[in-house]
Amino acid sequence: MAITAETDQGYKTAMGVAWEFDYDVDVQALENLYEKAKALQWNVTEDIDWDREVDPSRPILEGEGFGLSQMPLFQRLSKTQQDDLRAHTAAYRLSQFMHGEQGALMTAATLSHSVPDYEAKLYSATQTMDEARHVEVFQKYLDKLAIVYPMSPFLKDLIDATLKSDHWVKIAIGMNIVVEGIAMGAFHNMKRVTGCDLLRDITELTMRDEARHVAFGYLYVGHALGEMHPDDREEAADFALAAIDMMAPTLGREDPRSSRGSGGDPRSGTGRGDPGFVKVLVHSGIDPLDFAAGVREAKEAGISLEPRRGTVRIMEDLVMPALSRVGAITDRTHEILKERGVEVNRDTSVLEKLEEVETGTAEL
Ligand SMILES: [Fe+2]
Ligand SMILES: [Fe+2]
Repeated sequence: MAITAETDQGYKTAMGVAWEFDYDVDVQALENLYEKAKALQWNVTEDIDWDREVDPSRPILEGEGFGLSQMPLFQRLSKTQQDDLRAHTAAYRLSQFMHGEQGALMTAATLSHSVPDYEAKLYSATQTMDEARHVEVFQKYLDKLAIVYPMSPFLKDLIDATLKSDHWVKIAIGMNIVVEGIAMGAFHNMKRVTGCDLLRDITELTMRDEARHVAFGYLYVGHALGEMHPDDREEAADFALAAIDMMAPTLGREDPRSSRGSGGDPRSGTGRGDPGFVKVLVHSGIDPLDFAAGVREAKEAGISLEPRRGTVRIMEDLVMPALSRVGAITDRTHEILKERGVEVNRDTSVLEKLEEVETGTAEL
C-alpha cells in the first residue's frame, strides 16, 4: 500500500563549485576515512539474505520495544488496533529512513563538488555511494512490508534547507551532524527493539557506514569552523540553530517517550502535530484526539514512557553534544537556546560510546 505520492520537482540551489588542483593530502584523518570506506563497501543484493520473510506474528516493534505500548490507552485497544499501530508506526519510521537516505544521497553528492580539499572530495564520493546503498536497502525492506508513508514535512524542510544552503559547512552541519546524528540514534534504537532479524542486519550494516559520515562531520566541520572568520562562524551557528528548531518538534511528536512529553512544541508544550503520525493513527483505526488524550493520561498517571534500557535520547545525547563538540553552538546561540528552554547537553559520552560501538571497539 503506497500512502505516498507526489514527486517534488525541485528547486535551484546556491552552492558553489570548488576545484582543487593540489592533489596532496592535507587532512590525513579524511584520507583514513576514505580508505576505510573503500574497504567496508557492501552490496545490498548479495550481502543480505533477502529470502527471509518478515514474520507478521513477530512485530517489527515488538513487546516493550514499542514505547507506546506502555500507555493505558494502548491496553484498551483491540488486538487488531494494537497490531495495526505497531505495524504502521514501524512502516512510518522506516519510510522516514528511506526518504532521509535519499536526502543524504543528494547532500553527499553536493559535498563532493563544494568541499575545498582533494581528500574530502574523495571521501564524499564514498558517502554518496553509501547513501545510494541505504536508499536501496530500505526501499527493498519496505517492499516486503508493502506500506510506505510520505516523508515527514519536518524532515523534508530540514533537508531542503540544507540543500539550499550556500556553504558546504552548512550542508555538513545539516546532514552529517543533525540528520545523521538523528539517524544513528534511530537506527541504534530500532536495532535494539526490533524482533525482525532481517531488519537488525540492515540497521547494523547501515550504522557502520553512518558512523563514518558522522565522523566526517566531526573532523571536517570542527576544523573548518575553527578557521572561519567569527562572523561566518556565527552564520553557521545560526544555521545549526535553525536545524535544531526544525527537527526538535518531530522527535517529541511522533513518540511521547521523549523528554518533551506529549510531543508538543519543546517551548510551548503545544505546537503543530506531525501530520505523518496522524496518518498512522488513522490507518490504525485510532482517533488522533483520543490518542492525544491517552498521552496526557499516561503523563498524568506518572507512567514512565522513557526509552528502555539500551536506547538513546537522540537530540539530548547525540545531536546537541555533536553540535557543541564542533563549535556549531556558539556562546551567542547557546544563550538563545537557554532562553527558549532547550537543553544544551555538552556531555559527549553517549555519542562517543555509540561511535566506538560502530567502529567495533566497544559494547553499548
Ligand atoms: Fe545513510
Ligand atoms: Fe549517512
